[in-house]
Amino acid sequence: MPTVTFLPSFRKVEIAKGRTILEAAQKAGFHVNVVCGGQGKCGKCKVIVKSGHTEFDHEQYESILSAAEVEDSVCLACQAKVIDDLRVVIPDATLVQEQQILVDSGEIPTALNPAVWKYFLTLVPPSLDDQSPDLTRLLWEIEKSGGPQERAIYAPLEVIRRIPRVLRESGWKITATVALVPGGYRLIHVEKGDTASHIYGAAVDLGTTTIVVYIRNLADGHIMGIGSSYNHQISCGEDILSRVTYAKSGGGLAKLQSLAVDSINAALTEASNSAGIDREDIYEVVVAGNTIMTHILMGIDPAYMIEEPYVPVVRRYLTTAAQRIGLAVGENSGLFIFPAVSDFIGGDIIADILASGMAEGEEISLLIDIGTNFEVVLGNRDWMFTCAGAAGPALEGGEVLFGMRANPGAIERITIDPVTLVPSFSTIHNQKPKGICGSGLIDLLAQLLEACVIDRTGRINMTIARERIRMGRHIPEFVVAWKDETAIGRDIVVTENDIKALIMSKASVLAACQTLMNKAGIARGEISRIFFAGAFGNYLDKNHAITIGLIPEVPVGRVTGIGNGAIAGANIALLNRRKKKVLDEIAQKIAYIELNAESAFMDEYTRSCFLPHTDLSLFPDVETKLGQCRIRRGSA
Ligand code: FES
Repeated sequence: MPTVTFLPSFRKVEIAKGRTILEAAQKAGFHVNVVCGGQGKCGKCKVIVKSGHTEFDHEQYESILSAAEVEDSVCLACQAKVIDDLRVVIPDATLVQEQQILVDSGEIPTALNPAVWKYFLTLVPPSLDDQSPDLTRLLWEIEKSGGPQERAIYAPLEVIRRIPRVLRESGWKITATVALVPGGYRLIHVEKGDTASHIYGAAVDLGTTTIVVYIRNLADGHIMGIGSSYNHQISCGEDILSRVTYAKSGGGLAKLQSLAVDSINAALTEASNSAGIDREDIYEVVVAGNTIMTHILMGIDPAYMIEEPYVPVVRRYLTTAAQRIGLAVGENSGLFIFPAVSDFIGGDIIADILASGMAEGEEISLLIDIGTNFEVVLGNRDWMFTCAGAAGPALEGGEVLFGMRANPGAIERITIDPVTLVPSFSTIHNQKPKGICGSGLIDLLAQLLEACVIDRTGRINMTIARERIRMGRHIPEFVVAWKDETAIGRDIVVTENDIKALIMSKASVLAACQTLMNKAGIARGEISRIFFAGAFGNYLDKNHAITIGLIPEVPVGRVTGIGNGAIAGANIALLNRRKKKVLDEIAQKIAYIELNAESAFMDEYTRSCFLPHTDLSLFPDVETKLGQCRIRRGSA
């Protein structure tokens, strides 16, 4: 079997001839970017072959690899097959980097009413006059302290076994922990002394890319620590469909399940270390995630969700012991998984709805969560429509020549001088730019449109005599940063193809919003609030989102970012057990609209493939702005 040696670490791995360098890298424990799921489309898995032979057709990928890269033996790890012993360099840019993870859950507007309580108890020791059993004595004392009735509390065997020793070694001063679980009250822990103030819970946002954990004190609701991690499953596929495909392979589901648990445990460790608390004192874990992620976390086969007729195994909320799936928290701590609406509308969206409060009032709201896939919810406390679709990777920086995730060095804000066309930009962590992330791309599109550098179809106006507007490799492009300004030694440009990909992505989102509005008979003026959930929505410029027609035009003051709605919703359910009951009600209230079955969606999509839309009367303020641009350039 050939050996692949990865440099500069000299990590070696043996792999069967004909397997890809990507498979070898994963086997060696490297987390390689696989934005397109290994289809040879995104160019994010570039590696340099220093010695040895591979099977790789450079000509086939000339649109992704520059001439200089071909000369340097750069190839795509997902496409290059190992023929004999190799020495391969994995550049930093190819490895999954520390993400700019959105941990902000905003304000948590909820009462404190958790599902776990601690009671510090001083028991009267038994005597010949009082021979009540230890367990009865303990449960009576809980009842006397204001807890549930003795008969209503179930005590599992493993806790009963601890009781005699803990009672006697503590001098009959103990702390008992009781949780409300679906079957009733449960005694989940007994320990020596007074630990009543050490009662914590964890809220988890289980994302396809990132994981965020909040640890809260359940005695007063305060945040004790926050942790995050990228989802270690990324090395098995970047997007959700490639994860399901991986799950179908032999042992794939078990591996993905354990990677999800590892990722949550890593974030739990970070959060508990920063809080200075023991993870054993975490008594409940509440997880919000998309339907496929939560299925995988629970070890439930997700395969049938991507095959007709697309059904999940379970939609209702799930509970079990957290340790049963490997979470590193207290021995009898509970795990609560948010319910889902469908295969595409999961617990993360239910959490967004809970966090936004849109299910509580009469006013009509539109909630939009954008990643590679997007979800849209329209409605109020009486009714809700929802749909989901693929936005494509462009809005997150994928399949855009210099697009990148929101990592350090990504251009995240851009303004363009409308006269000189010179851009000003800021990057994440103020590093020299390496590429442009989603919020920067939205700015770029809006600013190029407002400066009349591109027309409403996204075509670059090559008649404008500015050195930044030029013909690139067979395609017009606009130079955002000259190579001596960048960290990559190359000009960072946006090409006409990139612009078209961005327009197609934004068109999917707008068409979905319009389809739901048409279905409900709602005009844009009737929408009181638009909520953006998730990292992408949180960082983007809301005016620019309207300018390009990513969302319907409403007064910009009505558009709010709710931050990480999934973690906010998980926090609310953790702190207030009554909200857990509301979740199923929300899930049952929502009518899921299958966009593929809606002929009107394709019409809306076609109309939305313009900036901002074919019908400018739907975007009156943008129309005014664009009119001013034409007047400035003297074309009107
Ligand atoms: S080109 Fe290899 S993962 Fe996309």
